[in-house]
Amino acid sequence: MNKKWWKESVVYQIYPRSFNDSNGDGIGDLNGITEKLDYLKNLGIDVIWLSPVYQSPNDDNGYDISDYQAIMKEFGTMEDFDCMLAAAHERGIKIVMDLVVNHTSDEHAWFMESRKSKDNPYRDYYIWREGKDGKEPNNWGSCFSGSAWVYDEATDMYYLHLFSKKQPDLNWENPKVRDEVFSMMDWWCQKGIDGFRMDVISMISKVEGLPDGKVSDGLHGDPSPFVQNGPRVHEYLQEMNQRVLSKYDLLTVGECPGVTVEEAQRYASDKGTELGMVFQFEHMGLDEGEFSKWSDRKIKLTDLKENLTKWQNGLDGKAWNSLYWCNHDQPRVLSRFGNDSKEYREVSAKMLGTCLHMMQGTPYVYQGEELGMTNVPFKSIDDFRDIESIRAYQEYVESGIIDKEDMMRFLCYKSRDNARTPMQWNSGKNAGFTEGTPWIMVNPNYKEINAEEQVDRADSVFNYYKKLIELRHKEEVIVYGHYELLMPESEELYVYTRELENEKILVICNFTEKEVKYTLPEEFENGKILISNYDKMSADAEMELKPYEAMVIKKA
Ligand code: NOJ
Repeated sequence: MNKKWWKESVVYQIYPRSFNDSNGDGIGDLNGITEKLDYLKNLGIDVIWLSPVYQSPNDDNGYDISDYQAIMKEFGTMEDFDCMLAAAHERGIKIVMDLVVNHTSDEHAWFMESRKSKDNPYRDYYIWREGKDGKEPNNWGSCFSGSAWVYDEATDMYYLHLFSKKQPDLNWENPKVRDEVFSMMDWWCQKGIDGFRMDVISMISKVEGLPDGKVSDGLHGDPSPFVQNGPRVHEYLQEMNQRVLSKYDLLTVGECPGVTVEEAQRYASDKGTELGMVFQFEHMGLDEGEFSKWSDRKIKLTDLKENLTKWQNGLDGKAWNSLYWCNHDQPRVLSRFGNDSKEYREVSAKMLGTCLHMMQGTPYVYQGEELGMTNVPFKSIDDFRDIESIRAYQEYVESGIIDKEDMMRFLCYKSRDNARTPMQWNSGKNAGFTEGTPWIMVNPNYKEINAEEQVDRADSVFNYYKKLIELRHKEEVIVYGHYELLMPESEELYVYTRELENEKILVICNFTEKEVKYTLPEEFENGKILISNYDKMSADAEMELKPYEAMVIKKA
């Protein structure tokens, strides 16, 4: 067992734009985060993952960086950053930065140079190709709709952008690019940050020749097989590890679209040669439909269990999992896998938290998840701010592939903006997020769902999450124990055990609003209830589980 502090931690993700606005401009900022550190300390988390705070024209809310060593004006100054870092460290909270190096902004100095001429020293920092028969170099679509190529008149060539056209892909084959990225990372490490969450890091190496992709949406070819887990990605990460990461004691997590268990065993190998852990996406893709994520299909519990179990067992002892239901790219889990009705909101939020936090891996809590924040009742396309949602709406609705009502339904269910509305602090103006006009609408349910109402209420979702976090800090079996799935066929219950030496816990989660009968395995009779979302003190051998009931029992 290879013990590490970051395996024993719980991470809290902050999307700074939507967290807390200290200066009334309607946009969250660094001083706003500093103001709320005591709230996070109270929750008990160990680490903050900060979505990008670097200088950016905000085509993709900071994931398009124009200067890696400057702070976005809207968020404050480098001094504000230093204050926040020091204040977090004073409270024993670590800070993990987002590292977005698959691409930069087109307003980054490197790209502005690169596009000037074919012989500019920065030309090969990016991926430039000649057109083919007067068209794009290949048929790839970008993740944000439309072609993945932009024609640039100055040199009569195209540049590649897997995301928006303001996010040109860096050319990692160029050793100078790697030098620049590694020295920038080192600069941040010297400042005292505690780790990196690496944006789409599985996409930095592209297959030579950039072959056409399969067209399945009737519009563009899919680049995934040629850009995910590409031929040199492990080589690049090993180099990064040798030159930067291994010099510090960091939490590193790679966001890895397309990662398989076998690939994850390499990215996040326990040998420590590349990264600490990965974000995998398979469980987030189980409710996709005909138009990939744009769907309102409900997940099947057996699919979810099968998938998470594959990851739990596949990485056990070999690599390390990250555990998440939510982040700034996913809708709210409560509205997706739980039940956001008034009646079951809190109990199902607690059940989902239990199910995830008792697994092996490092859990991530996304801002507002600890309050049971829900999806947002967006009324029209004008309510959305997210480039992915807006571009998908334009592309699919205008081409007649998806009709307007269906697309609005899909957006309300799946849009990233569901996660990006302001954090709900209290029942006052704008949920206490800002004195000004918020950059995106506030979820109208903030009068009922907010931090102020929950922090001092013993049976709130907040206090339940606090207890889940405490339990992980106390019980080693929750961190390192082996996982075993029970009742794989049940469409109602998710039941599993964790075992470490003589200790064993049983996790029972009812994913339905029905009462479900359950017989306790003998070895857990007389066990101790570690946590229960119905305040149970003891467990009977024959149980009738209540709607969304969850409990964790430790073997006596
Ligand atoms: C993944 C990030 O999480 C997402 O928000 C962003 O749009 C893309 N990468 C591009 O950077």
